Amino acid sequence: ADGHVNGNGHRPQPAPPPSMDVLRERHAGLRARIVGGDRAAIERQHRLGKLTARERLDLLLDEGSFVETDLYRRHQATGLGMGDRRPHTDGVITGSGEIFGRRVFVYAQDFTVFGGSLGEAHAAKIHKVMDLALENGAPLIGLNDSGGARIQEGVMALNGYGGIFRRNVRASGVIPQISVIMGPCAGGAAYSPALTDFTFMVRGTAQMYLTGPDVVEAVSGHRVSHAELGGADVHGERTGVATFVYDDEETCLAEVRYLVSLLPSNNLEPAPALPPTGAADDERPRLAEIVPVEPNKPYDMHRVVEELVDGGEFIELHEQWARNVICALGRIDGEVVGVVANQPMVLAGVLDADAAQKAARFVRFCDAFGIPLVTLVDVPGFLPGVEQEHDGIIRHGAKLLYAYCEATVPRVQVILRKAYGGAYIVMDSRSIGCDLSLAWPTNEIAVMGAEGAVNVVFRKQLAAADDPAALRAELIAEYTRQLVHPLFSAERGLVDDVIDPVQTRAAVARGLAMLRQKRGAAPQRKHGNVPL
Ligand code: HXC
Repeated sequence: ADGHVNGNGHRPQPAPPPSMDVLRERHAGLRARIVGGDRAAIERQHRLGKLTARERLDLLLDEGSFVETDLYRRHQATGLGMGDRRPHTDGVITGSGEIFGRRVFVYAQDFTVFGGSLGEAHAAKIHKVMDLALENGAPLIGLNDSGGARIQEGVMALNGYGGIFRRNVRASGVIPQISVIMGPCAGGAAYSPALTDFTFMVRGTAQMYLTGPDVVEAVSGHRVSHAELGGADVHGERTGVATFVYDDEETCLAEVRYLVSLLPSNNLEPAPALPPTGAADDERPRLAEIVPVEPNKPYDMHRVVEELVDGGEFIELHEQWARNVICALGRIDGEVVGVVANQPMVLAGVLDADAAQKAARFVRFCDAFGIPLVTLVDVPGFLPGVEQEHDGIIRHGAKLLYAYCEATVPRVQVILRKAYGGAYIVMDSRSIGCDLSLAWPTNEIAVMGAEGAVNVVFRKQLAAADDPAALRAELIAEYTRQLVHPLFSAERGLVDDVIDPVQTRAAVARGLAMLRQKRGAAPQRKHGNVPL
């Protein structure tokens, strides 16, 4: 290389570069094959307000923590022109990383490669991280952005989906599973999110449906847009398919990180606790201002939840669906709790079919993952009506009843005002297994309200009375005095203490501390037959 000519007139061969350089060069050459989609596809993705799979993983995971699996994997299909197009990664990035220092396993579908569609290799990559997540006891997070089953790979694509569904179910209740929908999620593909614990959707770009607008039109003649059929708001407000809806991908992924910070890694580990906040000595005078003494006056139960949880911070599931019940995860005295609460501001806080399903699934999640339950009760009953009855409120209400009855986690109930009829029983009453029942002095717990009760019990007397109004008033007063006075349940062991409302956070914190070692045993069986 230095131009020196040796004795027999030959130039010496240039000294070979050290092997490190050879290896690096070869590796770089191979690595250059991992390009994702072409420039046009990436630009289109960005134009739609969507990030690429790798950009999303950068936002989701702690910096520098990502370990990628199956980088070079690609499909082996040859038909329909596929033999010439075999990009590595095969339209999905898989691997593992950390969120706030805790391990998670991930897959992110890459719409810029084959529309993120799922074929045999793509599915096998997802299967592998699902298996690793389960074996390592760490949450699984799937970022979905896909045209669904890869048409060119035929039944092998369907087979790949089946393998995902089976693994979703196997992992259910063992590791938390989170689906994030950031583009299309069509056909059977939508069933994986439906099997996982939480589904996030991004407003404007995410859609989920079993049959798309074209098929709907062909079958029914009804023209409908992608968003109208299965956009984030439809699933966030009407169907309950989406647990969380956010306006953009950055916020969505930040909220996934927050949710993960509240979840245990698996069913054998506790949820991550923060240092105690001194909640057991905390007085909350605002509670007395938030909740009116009058039993039927509405108020926003969110304000109560804010007073009870540390820093007023919680994440609410299904914020816009079945708003008559609130399900939220937050911390009390540093420990993660699940809060179920009636919302008197919506439908007066009655339970209906949707609310029962929403709360039931949440109770079952908390129970599966050892998260204590705090139930805030202010419920006039189940929603009466032909529609509800014909919608199967009996079947759906039974789900919530079943969920509470089988829950073995610590359970603290707080009855703020009314708790009537079947709804009293269902909202974690003593009879179905609540460990500690606390009530405010405003509690009214009975089969039904005074007026209805008097009308039923004294119908004949009222019909025969000279002055029915006066008699009714007298009987209502008597009924209230005898059956709904604030110590009625406490005297019978169904309420442990009637507390000063200002002390609610402290009393709940002390109750949870009392129950921290609780070990509830379920009877041996394959599994129960939860009413689905
Ligand atoms: C193969 C697909 C694909 C698919 C999209 N692509 N979906 N390739 N199989 N399922 C490819 C396109 O050919 C295109 O490739 C690229 O991805 C981008 O797609 P576009 O159509 O250009 O994008 P867009 O206009 O944004 O439309 C997105 C879409 C549409 C709405 C998702 O692509 C679509 O309708 N795809 C088919 C959806 C579908 O019916 N899937 C099967 C569902 S049934 P080029 O090369 O042009 O860039 C199913 C069954 C699962 O999934 C069953 C489990 C039990």
